Amino acid sequence: MEPSDLRQRLERAGQAHVLQFWDELTPGQREELRTELQALDLDELGGFFRKAMAGFQQSCGQEKVDTRMEPVPREVLGSATRDQDQLQAWEDEGLLQIAQSRVAALLLAGGQGTRLGVVYPKGMYDVGLLSRKSLFQIQAERILRLQQLAEQRHGSPCTIPWYVMTSGRTVEDTRAFFGKHRFFGLRAEDVVFFQQGMLPALTFDGKVILEDKGRLAMAPDGNGGLYRALAAHGIVEDMGRRGISAVHVYCVDNILVKVADPRFIGFCMQKGADCGAKVVEKTNPTEPVGVVCRVDGVYQVVEYSEISLATAQRRSPDGRLLFSAGNIANHFFSLPFLRDVVSVFEPRLRHHVAQKKIPFVDARGRLVQPDKPNGIKMEKFVFDIFQFAKNFVVFEVLREDEFSPLKNADSQDGKDNPTTARRALLSLHHRWVLNAGGHFIDENGSRLPAIPRRAHPGKPEARPAGVHHNLKDAGDAPILCEVSPLVSYAGEGLEGHVAGREFHAPLVIDENGVHELVRNGL
Ligand code: UD1
Repeated sequence: MEPSDLRQRLERAGQAHVLQFWDELTPGQREELRTELQALDLDELGGFFRKAMAGFQQSCGQEKVDTRMEPVPREVLGSATRDQDQLQAWEDEGLLQIAQSRVAALLLAGGQGTRLGVVYPKGMYDVGLLSRKSLFQIQAERILRLQQLAEQRHGSPCTIPWYVMTSGRTVEDTRAFFGKHRFFGLRAEDVVFFQQGMLPALTFDGKVILEDKGRLAMAPDGNGGLYRALAAHGIVEDMGRRGISAVHVYCVDNILVKVADPRFIGFCMQKGADCGAKVVEKTNPTEPVGVVCRVDGVYQVVEYSEISLATAQRRSPDGRLLFSAGNIANHFFSLPFLRDVVSVFEPRLRHHVAQKKIPFVDARGRLVQPDKPNGIKMEKFVFDIFQFAKNFVVFEVLREDEFSPLKNADSQDGKDNPTTARRALLSLHHRWVLNAGGHFIDENGSRLPAIPRRAHPGKPEARPAGVHHNLKDAGDAPILCEVSPLVSYAGEGLEGHVAGREFHAPLVIDENGVHELVRNGL
């Protein structure tokens, strides 16, 4: 029988129904359920629910957020295209900070990847590059290269510690993957894993949902669970001990992410910012990205699910979208700001409510897949703390250089999927090689145009003979060209490899040299 104090606790909290199948459970299942329940602070959960629902109902009744939104003012905005004259100074500042080991990268990797439909963490995903590198490996190698660049510039060895937030859903596989790949060349002590919290899904009246007779329907508490996790695992203290002063927080799914980007770091630091967001210009009103803006005078991100089409379509006099600062989930935080967030502001945040179809077991113990929302998940968002910043800045970058997220599984004409991510990276690297003075030629030795021809749908472009790579590219595929992050972080340093030379694609440039895969018979 279950310990009576557990039952009493559950009864007091109105959650005793979770024990309804106790007698049918095996000893192992009972133990698991008991452990799960003991870890749950039921009073706190009730408080979260009431606060979240009050906020949700208020927002439903309130004037729509749309009417209270204002675009980001020009004075807080830096731009990779419009502020060309300042880019070098920002980069120099960022590299100096990195060289002094004052910059950390923090990866949000606790999500479940539901839309992508894989059962393992998204960072392990292989989008089918020539190198077959995973997202984790690409990011790790960018860190290695950046450390090298900062060292070369300033002559002293440095470290960018990498904090990796996982969740109960991703922790084991992530750790095992890093271990198997020997931390991709990073020092194990410079990679710090920590785990975010989980919360049970609840019915609309606050009852914990069982997804199985002996298991609660648990889910990570949103990427804003970061701040509670930072506190729970002493991460800010660890950063302090390492002498960190700035942190770049980013999402796992963007194949083009410039981890610890020195320009972004330098821009934010030169502006004296405590908090910053990197954005790309949103050009399509229905693109699923949040927009950075002010609401009632306070900075925040209005999620794509919260904005009405009419507002998303509004245009400025110059014809651009009025709300064009598309959030790419790349954030800058100063360490003092993060410290205040963790100790003062986080408890003030309330969870967002997402109404979901949550599979559950009914009173007879049968699994039901509901066809309409039957409950809620509670999540905090990483950008919920923008409102507390004293000096908030925004940095606009080019989408084709920095943003191609992996959200969905491949499908015909799909977006943000493995094919679009792979092509975005190959196309960027192709441009790097051209900019460094390299050329691509076809099988007859004629130079290929810089902008590859788009093939007709259903009529794949001819691939170079002898390419046996398991690539799914066809149709309007870019030229197959991949540069290892160990060789170049942002296109730099390639002249020595490619200037004045002609190449047949597929081309790989890595730490062992330049490889034309067909010529080399690979
Ligand atoms: C996110 C942004 C959105 C932005 C878009 C760009 C948030 C809340 N929304 O939306 O404004 O335009 O990216 O691609 O940031 N994660 C956790 N723990 C969780 C849930 C998610 O670590 O509990 C991580 C995921 O692993 C991923 C990231 O957060 O790295 C983004 O999560 P996802 O749910 O994919 O966010 P989007 O809805 O795409």
